[in-house]
Amino acid sequence: MKKLYGVIGNPIGHSLSPLMHNDALSHLGIDAHYHAFRIKEEQLENAVKGFRAIEISGFNVTTPHKVDVMRYLDEVDELAGQIGAVNTVVNRNGALVGYNTDGIGYIRSLQSISKEPLQEKRILLLGAGGASRAIFFSLAALGVREADIANRTASRAQELIDACRYEIASKAITMEQAEAQQHEYDIIINTTTVGMSPHVADTPLPIRSLKRGAIVSDIIYNPFETRLLREAREAGAIVQNGVDMFVYQGALAFEYWTGQWPDVGRMKQTVITKLG
Ligand code: ATR
Repeated sequence: MKKLYGVIGNPIGHSLSPLMHNDALSHLGIDAHYHAFRIKEEQLENAVKGFRAIEISGFNVTTPHKVDVMRYLDEVDELAGQIGAVNTVVNRNGALVGYNTDGIGYIRSLQSISKEPLQEKRILLLGAGGASRAIFFSLAALGVREADIANRTASRAQELIDACRYEIASKAITMEQAEAQQHEYDIIINTTTVGMSPHVADTPLPIRSLKRGAIVSDIIYNPFETRLLREAREAGAIVQNGVDMFVYQGALAFEYWTGQWPDVGRMKQTVITKLG
């Protein structure tokens, strides 16, 4: 029987996941369909029950359900539990198991452009919201030794550091400190919403001077090149936008569901064509 996958969220109309996953499924000859379901918050429990009834093979979870969905699952993987959010659910013989592929997917995307292992790198994260939490905990779980966090509200950065149970050396710093010491970092990652369309003239970190060979990565993909990335590129940095993170979180989910690693280059092209 044809398998069913999907994504739940609200709103969900603009999700690029159906396009990306359906193309990958058909490309690998897997008899399955991936569908977007708009689920209101008060219908989340019913939606998960319905998925059990129809024996869905797996689904992604996006805003606003990433935290609340956990209470309706049978099991939550350790890292997802630490992060406190699930974006991927796998149906294992009737048991719904939750994972978080956002952080690990992001790290895979970073590894795809970094020639060296990330463990020894000095990393600066801008922002301390949900996306930062997933990335920071995943970096720590991977064994990265040092990652500082700069946030407009410094107390949120410290809370994130205090909440992390994996071993990692971190300091909460101000945005001003981040600006002043930006040249000390090998990798700078923007997880804030600053610079996102339509506020494209804004930047979370004016580029002054970067370390030689630095990577600057922005999880925003609208616009493709934020002011942060443009300034970093002009300063000679290796830059990466948020398309890769989106593609890799999807590729990891795909692997969890099907056991096959999809063609990420093809997935990326599908997404870029649609966005472009
Ligand atoms: P997400 O789940 O996408 O990470 P979030 O939890 O709302 O979203 O977090 C947004 C991040 O962007 C936060 O780090 C936020 O900083 P505060 O913790 O100080 O709110 C940051 N952010 C949003 N707008 C900002 C702005 N105008 N200037 C600086 N930081 C901003």
